[in-house]
Amino acid sequence: MIVLGIETSCDETAAAVVTDAREIRADVVLSQLDDHTPYGGVVPEIAARAHLEHLDGLVRRAMAEAGVGFGDLDAIAATGGPGLIGGVIVGVMTAKAIAAARNLPFVAVNHLEGHALTARLTHDVAFPYLLLLVSGGHCQLLVVEGVGRYRRLGTTIDDAVGEAFDKTAKLLGLGYPGGPLVEQAAARARNPGRFALPRPLVGRPGCDFSFSGLKTAVRRHVEEVGALSGAGLSDADRDDLAAAFQATVAEVMADRCARAIARFKQDHPQGGALVVAGGVAANKTLRARLQTLADREAMPFVAPPLRLCTDNAAMIAWAGIERFRLGEQDPLSFAPRPRWPL
Ligand code: KG4
Ligand code: ZN
Repeated sequence: MIVLGIETSCDETAAAVVTDAREIRADVVLSQLDDHTPYGGVVPEIAARAHLEHLDGLVRRAMAEAGVGFGDLDAIAATGGPGLIGGVIVGVMTAKAIAAARNLPFVAVNHLEGHALTARLTHDVAFPYLLLLVSGGHCQLLVVEGVGRYRRLGTTIDDAVGEAFDKTAKLLGLGYPGGPLVEQAAARARNPGRFALPRPLVGRPGCDFSFSGLKTAVRRHVEEVGALSGAGLSDADRDDLAAAFQATVAEVMADRCARAIARFKQDHPQGGALVVAGGVAANKTLRARLQTLADREAMPFVAPPLRLCTDNAAMIAWAGIERFRLGEQDPLSFAPRPRWPL
């Protein structure tokens, strides 16, 4: 089975060709970073126009790299939501147009399901598994019982963790997108233990997350250190604060995951893996902390390769395959969904 996947829900335009033998034949991603950087964040209207301008060319490139024509495809999968609606419409309409012209099945994929199932594309991961889904818009702990069968154990009560990285980067004057820049600054820190930050909800019952207090604490340090020096943050201050923030996030994540693992083991005595997915899963400190936790809990730990953690179309093609081989597809009347909980 060969499936073309299309992803346009945020600021990456992407197309990929994937087989049900878990072979990624092509995986092209065009980042719109330069278009949005002057504004310090993603501008939905600019994103939609950029998707429109580039998607056709990217699809052609992915097909050429994979060495396939439309006649070789078994289905077309596109992100149907959740996301910035202008971009989702561009991807869905493109997929529908190809599906209609070539008489191919169309599968609308939930972007979060794309992240959630990526580990099964890259590793031998059986259901059920415990998933930490951490991206720019989401921060959830889920039990993945099967395709389309997700049980939520916890979520954020304020910001998503990627959002916290992005806002912290802004406070530190690091620019956009925040995650990778905070990670780089933290790696340069010479005194990573210098700042102590609060660890929201750590030690409390439940599996929910909270990041707004952490962000406020970073802001307070930025103001205090800046006022003391009279000249704002030095590079060393900034790097030390980035390291403190990143280490605190990793600690919070580990605490929440430990609680989720206890519940997961209770409900599933046969066991399962701890899987991390979404853009923030690219963070190496977080991955290392989760690996330690999984080792302690005697659970396999699975983290997809970095480029499949951030937004891409291979995960959309794969989720399309998982659905299509269960006999599912969507009508061409499918309406793009700005909100679409798992
Ligand atoms: O999954 P994703 O690419 O897009 C969404 O669906 O949201 O996630 C993007 C988020 C951004 O907030 C970005 O700052 C964060 O993932 N991110 C990272 C890293 N790379 C991307 N956060 C921490 N460390 C990273 N290395
Ligand atoms: Zn995403």
